[in-house]
Amino acid sequence: MDSPKILLTGATGYVGGTVLHRLMTSTAPSVQGLQVSVLVRGEERADKLVRTYGDRVSPILFRDYDETELIEQLASQHDIVINAGSGFHPASAEAMVRGLSQRQTNSSTTASSKPWMLHTSGCSNVSDRPLTGQAFPDRELHDADGTTVYDFEKAENESDWYPQRAAELAVLSHPSVTSEKQEQGVGALSIQAPCIFGEGEGLFQRAGLMVPIMMRYVVEKGHGFQLGDGTGVIDYVHVADLADLYVRCVRDVVEHDASNLPSGARGIVFPTAGRVYMRDIAQGCLDAAFAAGMLPRVDGTTDMQKVIRQVDLQEAATTTAGNVVVAEVGWAGHRATKGTVARERLGWLPTHCAAAWAQTSSTSCATSSRASGW
Ligand SMILES: NC(=O)c1ccc[n+]([C@@H]2O[C@H](COP(=O)([O-])OP(=O)(O)OC[C@H]3O[C@@H](n4cnc5c(N)ncnc54)[C@H](OP(=O)(O)O)[C@@H]3O)[C@@H](O)[C@H]2O)c1
Repeated sequence: MDSPKILLTGATGYVGGTVLHRLMTSTAPSVQGLQVSVLVRGEERADKLVRTYGDRVSPILFRDYDETELIEQLASQHDIVINAGSGFHPASAEAMVRGLSQRQTNSSTTASSKPWMLHTSGCSNVSDRPLTGQAFPDRELHDADGTTVYDFEKAENESDWYPQRAAELAVLSHPSVTSEKQEQGVGALSIQAPCIFGEGEGLFQRAGLMVPIMMRYVVEKGHGFQLGDGTGVIDYVHVADLADLYVRCVRDVVEHDASNLPSGARGIVFPTAGRVYMRDIAQGCLDAAFAAGMLPRVDGTTDMQKVIRQVDLQEAATTTAGNVVVAEVGWAGHRATKGTVARERLGWLPTHCAAAWAQTSSTSCATSSRASGW
């Protein structure tokens, strides 16, 4: 595809900001000239993006993801949509694919290849509900297993609708993606991220989610917490490695006509670099807070030793803006996701693995946090 036009959401966020940065700084010749339109809120932030990255970035101001008509229209004017904003908004995600499907007929672009949707989602889509439902501590899903993950999610969503899973399914099952006439359709894959760690490289939100949230809890309360029996598990990936995967996907579209990208029901990709028990995240934050001298507090209001307390769902939900579903899957869920598709098909090789992960709690002590992105 010749110089496709990219539409990116989430450019002011942790994931999207890092993706934009990596697109702008990539030394790959096929990426260096690419134009990226970014959907953003706030004129000042739009100006800062242009001041930083120059005229390769074109901000488009919008109100929110409910503006689906605008989003559909904009998508129809682009060749690749990278949805790295909210993975929890099915209507806008679907509007992006719908818009892309119209590019085929409306656009005056000379690009002959089909348009692509690179969606962002999260591994809570495949989590069990160990407290309010059944626990599956030994379950591991593998992205190379054809349509198994997709079928599993479809069945889960029929009994237990979850917006992030619904958005992913809406993208991958859109008629333009599943059409028999593939040469006329849209390609779509979903990068289903596990726990993302490390400092972002964007201009605005640079803090991750899970580790900074646990760190904030630990520092405020003086102890860590455990929800469930301590076997809750999640994989992890560094935000820079994750962003590199998006760049690899874009390069595959431009350089190889997307021949290595899985699409539709086969299009769920797990970008993983390691695995951790949720209890160990709490332990890591406690260790870092004690090592940094933040705990125990000198006024004696906190435990003198490192303590991880068992909490109930209501207490855990104080870290997820009161959302008990997100608290349950987030802090107690089993979401072991084995990812080999990105490595084998795209040559993706995460460079921040166990050693980088081990540093993340201490880094979170020193860097910014956010109240709750959930
Ligand atoms: N962070 C993680 O650890 C993690 C893990 C797994 C999956 N994910 C997936 O990645 C997605 C992005 O995560 P993130 O950490 O990058 O989030 P983030 O830092 O909070 O960024 C969200 C981005 O989306 C925009 N946005 C959010 N809600 C919006 C709305 N209603 N209308 C318009 N813009 C809106 C934000 O714009 P403003 O700056 O204007 O608010 C921002 O640019 C998540 O939704 C999730 O599906 C994240």
